[in-house]
Amino acid sequence: MKPKKTVLAYSGGLDTSVIIPWLKEHYGGQVLAVIVDVGQPEDFDAIRRKALSSGADAAFVVDVKHEFATDFIFSALRANAVYEQSYLLGTALARPLIAKTQVEVAIAEGADALAHGCTGKGNDQVRFELTYQALAPELKVIAPWREWTLHSREDEIEYAASRGIPVPVTKDKPYSIDQNLWHRSVEAGPLEDPWQESAEDAYALTVSPAQAPDQAEYIEIAFEQGRPVALDGTESDPVTIIQTLNRLGGAHGVGRVDMVENRLVGMKVRGIYETPGGTILMVAHHDLESMTLDRDTLHHAAYVAPRYAELIYYGQWYSPLRMAFDGFLDVAQRTVTGTVRVKLFKGTASAAGRTSPHALYQRDLATFGRDDVYSQHDAEGFINLWGLPTRVFARVNPELIRKQLRHPFDSPASRARSWPSATESKGE
Ligand code: ARG
Repeated sequence: MKPKKTVLAYSGGLDTSVIIPWLKEHYGGQVLAVIVDVGQPEDFDAIRRKALSSGADAAFVVDVKHEFATDFIFSALRANAVYEQSYLLGTALARPLIAKTQVEVAIAEGADALAHGCTGKGNDQVRFELTYQALAPELKVIAPWREWTLHSREDEIEYAASRGIPVPVTKDKPYSIDQNLWHRSVEAGPLEDPWQESAEDAYALTVSPAQAPDQAEYIEIAFEQGRPVALDGTESDPVTIIQTLNRLGGAHGVGRVDMVENRLVGMKVRGIYETPGGTILMVAHHDLESMTLDRDTLHHAAYVAPRYAELIYYGQWYSPLRMAFDGFLDVAQRTVTGTVRVKLFKGTASAAGRTSPHALYQRDLATFGRDDVYSQHDAEGFINLWGLPTRVFARVNPELIRKQLRHPFDSPASRARSWPSATESKGE
């Protein structure tokens, strides 16, 4: 099938630039480039012009930063979604939104195909295409990287030059970088040796914790129903909150991660992440939950979190399970309202104080001081009933439980042999 109009997710890089003439030569029809602004630090006007000079029939820049922050990032934040306990999912969160934007343009422009520049080895192809499948299963999908015969950067440069595409004058760029409002991710090059420490030149959003100020800095983050709404008492929009915390956290070296992660397509990859603002927000949000969620809900949320993170990582943003989790979170987060004071110091962000109108922490209950609400006498009956199954099991199966006692106490005889006697210990 030859598409009449293909909408390409265009970044302005060499890969997606080469895709434009390649699509025209191999598939024909028009190519519309969509540049989705998810907060990457780029000159979007220049990228738009580059798409056109690479042969695109039209090029659109769509700013989705607000939607990214509100519907994607803050949803993940409410869930405490962190993949393999370290990765705050910056790339994985942006892909479904970029793909959705592409679909919206395709529908508006009457296009019949979608194309992306992801390689056949990564997670991103899955994230793009699962979004296409969910939102526009009728559109044809073209993934040039899985089809074409350009196998190296040199091949691509040669192809680009022969088609009159401006090739970036490359000072050696050893890394593969992906950046947006939420994070910056770096893979490849020297990072492919997992034993070798990442060099400082791999980082851009954060200073080295060693170079961070010796003076701690505090920031107060206010939340409403699990979503950040203000910094230091000043209400702010989601994008500004994240940008401000990125700057602040970056200056204190907060949010660096160096990890080996499991890709969906099977292999492991080593990469580094910088998520300064995200790290601060995760610390603050989780801390506020500790103050405002009852024990059962808090513990259940801890089960949901890694599963929610997997759904994001695996490209299943538009899945019924993610939506069902959001239903749980809509209810669970109703009381996650309040303010957390976070301390930034030498690469760490830690909660230093919290306050909430929904605090379940009640000082008069927890206090070691005078006490009128809690009857210590009641604890006796509680422990008797709580321990009832323990006592029954121990009585029925003494051989399974009591053998865990330390050897010298097993028999009076062995105790006498190997333990100081009562008389000895009195110092005779
Ligand atoms: N491994 C991360 C993920 O799958 C980031 C991928 C993109 N990053 C990059 N530097 N190319 O979400």
